[in-house]
Amino acid sequence: VERIIVIGGGGHAKVVVDALRAGGVFEPLGVLDLPSRMGEEVLGVPVVGGDEDLPRLVAEGVSACVIALGSTGDPAARVRLFDLAKAAGCSLPVVVHPRAWVSPAATLEEGVFVAANASVGPGSVIGACAIVNTGAVVDHDCRVGRFAHIAPGAALSGMVEVGDRSHIGTGSAVKQGVRIGAGSVVGVGSTVVDDIDEGVIAYGNPCRPVWDRPTEGGSR
Ligand SMILES: CC(C)(COP(=O)(O)OP(=O)(O)OC[C@H]1O[C@@H](n2cnc3c(N)ncnc32)[C@H](O)[C@@H]1OP(=O)(O)O)[C@@H](O)C(=O)NCCC(=O)NCCS
Repeated sequence: VERIIVIGGGGHAKVVVDALRAGGVFEPLGVLDLPSRMGEEVLGVPVVGGDEDLPRLVAEGVSACVIALGSTGDPAARVRLFDLAKAAGCSLPVVVHPRAWVSPAATLEEGVFVAANASVGPGSVIGACAIVNTGAVVDHDCRVGRFAHIAPGAALSGMVEVGDRSHIGTGSAVKQGVRIGAGSVVGVGSTVVDDIDEGVIAYGNPCRPVWDRPTEGGSR
């Protein structure tokens, strides 16, 4: 059992800690979060410091970490923490809940998290630090970009492409072969039957872009 540091101590961290414990491959040693959270616990795992403590922990021999900060559209903080962990010399192992299904013919890049009851089909590639959340389905031959988040219960039919940093909202369904551009958000419960541009927020049935992402200079 390898010791692992959990970066981020919010709601998504509980899902990650649950998966680590169920898997039995990694033992969550401590959580890194804001200084105000010192002394608190996440499902019994103590908050032991902040991001700045990572190099010290690596020097003390803990070399694996998992980015457990969630995101609902803007993964900038996860990107920053990923870069920080790499700079500190941490490894970012793939974490898969033992009750998820990942095809032996799928590829998961470093730092990918696959939650309980999710599945990843043959020929699919999940980019670094992406999240395939609880009960989400990524069927065959999909491409999910780096730092993307397939939220709980969302389903990608075969051959779907999701760009880097994009978010597919809870319970959404995406038709086979559809491409979703980088940095876009698909709202909860959407039915995506046509390609979605990059950098937009889109929702509905059929899913249509509603406005450009405010963070990227757009407005509603
Ligand atoms: C699409 C989304 C990003 C918009 O968020 P927002 O900018 O905060 O927008 P608001 O909640 O203020 O809603 C704005 C309008 O859009 C509508 N709307 C928002 N999301 C919608 C959706 N998925 N489907 C239909 N209408 C939606 C609201 O009803 C509201 O309409 P109104 O102006 O007529 O009242 C957000 O609703 C969403 O779906 N986020 C994804 C959440 C998710 O997947 N979470 C997973 C956590 S693990």
